[in-house]
This record gives sequence, structure tokens and C-alpha cells, in this order.
Amino acid sequence: MLEEVVKSSKSLPSRTKILIFGGGYSGQHIAKVARALGAKVLCSRRNIKNIGADFEFDSENKALISETIFDDVTHIISCIPPNKLGQDPVIYRFGKILKKIPLKWVGYLSTTGVYGDYKGEWVNENSITCPTQERSIRRLSCEREWQSLNLPLQILRLPGIYGPGRSALEAIKKNKNTMVHKPGQVFSRIHIDDIAGSIIHLINLFSDGITPKIINIADDNPANNVEVLTYAANLLKIPLPRIESFEIATKNMSPIARSFWQENRKVSNTTLCNILGYNLIHSDYKSGLNDCFKSFS
Ligand SMILES: NC(=O)c1ccc[n+]([C@@H]2O[C@H](COP(=O)([O-])OP(=O)(O)OC[C@H]3O[C@@H](n4cnc5c(N)ncnc54)[C@H](OP(=O)(O)O)[C@@H]3O)[C@@H](O)[C@H]2O)c1
Repeated sequence: MLEEVVKSSKSLPSRTKILIFGGGYSGQHIAKVARALGAKVLCSRRNIKNIGADFEFDSENKALISETIFDDVTHIISCIPPNKLGQDPVIYRFGKILKKIPLKWVGYLSTTGVYGDYKGEWVNENSITCPTQERSIRRLSCEREWQSLNLPLQILRLPGIYGPGRSALEAIKKNKNTMVHKPGQVFSRIHIDDIAGSIIHLINLFSDGITPKIINIADDNPANNVEVLTYAANLLKIPLPRIESFEIATKNMSPIARSFWQENRKVSNTTLCNILGYNLIHSDYKSGLNDCFKSFS
């Protein structure tokens, strides 16, 4: 819940102006929290008519964008995925300007897919990146593009993002019949409150000179699909869907859905929580889903 993140966060210095490229699901939540903490925030969306769009940016469309959006900007957050060629859309269009302005902090939202398959073992920021999916190979290439600009950058690697309106509650409402089970398979997750909360925490630490370059943002409890969906079904007070084995379910899965089951890893948040001292608002899917349930319709 927005109020909870704001309550547990330090306010941002006056004159903080944040540009968020890609004000989608996470971007909008980060924007709301940062505004409540005193920052001026501008968000891009691909269509200015979309909710929460302060300016329009679509890398596929060459429309002119006024450079005045960069006036007095202190912080940049990019939530835009790589384009089909593996280029970063923000750097491609604005790289030259970004290098010229005196930025205090830049956050790039990446994915833990860059680690690849660890056969259910833990990964941390020092683990070798060995992406197997095309989209994760492109993502790693974008991380490197951002690193090459020599900005005050932090790369934030995220596992499955969930929160109100996008959680196991919606998933089970859409498919009441089956839950896919693959023995030994776990997924790490992060609730959007903790994406926003940890970003504010990292921005404040960065201004105090604590500047790690890559941080995993994940909760404490990687868990399997059936466990999470069972909890969601119980919250909704609906009968438990039938368990279907992965071998059977995979035959009807889209290639993208199947690809998520091809890698297995647990994402460690030791850097974020133990070394950098961030206190998770939702340390596991139970706390996160209880929060989603409050506004579920
Ligand atoms: N969803 C997950 O579970 C997950 C997990 C790990 C990492 N990530 C990554 O973390 C970031 C934030 O995730 P999210 O789920 O909050 O993303 P999201 O809701 O899909 O938002 C993505 C944003 O990028 C914008 N965008 C996409 N393609 C663009 C383009 N070609 N040009 C300009 N803008 C473009 C979208 O514009 P519109 O607002 O107009 O749609 C949207 O604002 C993304 O990079 C995502 O890939 C996601």
C-alpha cells in the first residue's frame, strides 16, 4: 500500500526532480511514492492519453520530444525493456543528453533473468550472468549500455513483479481449473511496494556515498507456483484448482509462458536487506497477497 511505503521511507531532498522513462505498472507506483515524499516526477508513456503520462515517448515513433523535460532533472529511472534489436530505447534516443546533465542518481530496472538457470540454487549479485533466453541476453546487453555511459548508475535486478491488480489472485480468477506443478521449481518475487520503497532507500544511501553498482530486489521467500496459488485460492475462498503436472501443461503453454519454467533459481536479497539495511514491507508472498486482497475486485 502506498501509504505504508511513504510512512516507512525518508523524504527526498527538496529540488529532487525525477524523470521516469516507462511509467507503466512499476513506474507509476514509484512516481506516486516519490511525489508523496516531496519530489517532482515526470513519467513517460507511449501515448500521452494513457493514465499518468506526463510526456510521450515511444522509441518506435520518431516524434520530437522537448528537451525541456530534462531541465533541472536530478534523478532518472528507466523501466523500459530492451527493443527487439537488444538496444536500450532510452539510451538510443537520449544517451547524449544524459551524459551532459549533472545527475545525482540513475536507476535501471533490469531482470534476474540475466543470471540464467541455476538449477534451483541461490544467486547473488556476484553470480556469473549466463542468460539463456533471448530477452535476457538483450537485457544484459542493455545493462552494459547503461554501464558504459559512466553515470551515477545502479542496476536493479528484479524477479517476478506483482502487486494490486497483477497477482496470483488475478491469475487464479482467470484460470480456476488447474495449477501447474513442477517439482523443485521455485520463483522469486517482489511486490511493487518494495520496488518503490527500496528505490527510495537506495537513492538516499547513494547521496550518503553508499553506491553499490548492482542490487537484486527480491523478497525473502522464493516459492513454488502451487504454494502461492493455493494461498490465493484460500484468500478468495474458492475451491483449490486441480494440480496439473508440468509435462502435461507445457503442451498447451505459449512459448513465453514455457520459457519462464525453463530456468530455476532463488534470488538472494542479502545485499539489499542485510548489507544496505532495507526492511521489506512484504517479506513473502503471503504478506504481499494479503495486501493485494484488500483492493481485489
Ligand atoms: N513484469 C515482471 O514480472 C518483470 C520482472 C522483472 C523485470 N521486469 C522489467 O522491469 C521493468 C518494469 O516492469 P513493469 O512490469 O512495471 O513494466 P510495464 O508495466 O510493462 O511498463 C513498461 C514501460 O515501458 C514502456 N515501454 C515499453 N516499450 C517501450 C518503447 N518501445 N518505447 C517507449 N516506452 C516503452 C511502457 O509504455 P506504456 O506505459 O505506454 O505501456 C511502460 O510504461 C521493465 O523493464 C520490465 O521488463 C519486469
